[in-house]
Amino acid sequence: MKRGKFIALEGGEGTGKSTQARKLAEALENAGHEVVTTREPGGTPGAEAIRSLLLDPPGEGWGPKAEALLFAAARSDHVERLILPSLDAGRWVVCDRFVDSSRAYQGFAGQLGDDKVRALHAVGSDGIRPDLVILIDVSPDEIARRLSVRDADGSDAIGGRSADYHSRVAAAFRQMAEEDAAGFVVVDGNAGEETVHARILDAISGRFGDKL
Ligand code: TYD
Repeated sequence: MKRGKFIALEGGEGTGKSTQARKLAEALENAGHEVVTTREPGGTPGAEAIRSLLLDPPGEGWGPKAEALLFAAARSDHVERLILPSLDAGRWVVCDRFVDSSRAYQGFAGQLGDDKVRALHAVGSDGIRPDLVILIDVSPDEIARRLSVRDADGSDAIGGRSADYHSRVAAAFRQMAEEDAAGFVVVDGNAGEETVHARILDAISGRFGDKL
């Protein structure tokens, strides 16, 4: 059985990851692959329960360390129960966010630092990496415009953080992609859905040699 490929979509809020994950999964299915589409935090019942704790925290919310541990715990369950078994069964996994979100949000924009986030990932998920990370890069002006429409009735505990926090997240994603050109493809997301989708398919065909 040929192992499936693991693709993660990354980017800040309002970059269109969820829409693009859905469209990518459809295209891969049309090309004859079996595909599992999933997301983080979440993807398994346990990880979805942790998602609720993270995005709608009880009481006074989580400190930076507890927050990072909860993301890592959710990821550990997701990797062990869904991602690895799916890849082993030959399925492709398309994941809306993965460990690079923890690196960007908790590590770089938050207070923890990259080394600690990577250490948690080593403990929780044996440090597994996607075969390819697609970073959807969208300009700050365009993001502000999209979020004013999408989050008009309130964003979650992390989405609602300061503009400064989110610009550190965006800078961190760009830096990670620059430092790991083999692991990332940066796709310009300042365009309509179909155009961005076509760019993602090109990137995947280019990397894996599959015609999509
Ligand atoms: P998501 O549902 O993907 O939000 P959005 O659609 O706004 O991109 O993710 C929920 C939030 O969790 C989002 O603000 C990013 C944050 N997050 C982290 O801070 N660390 C992580 O490791 C992950 C996976 C998400």
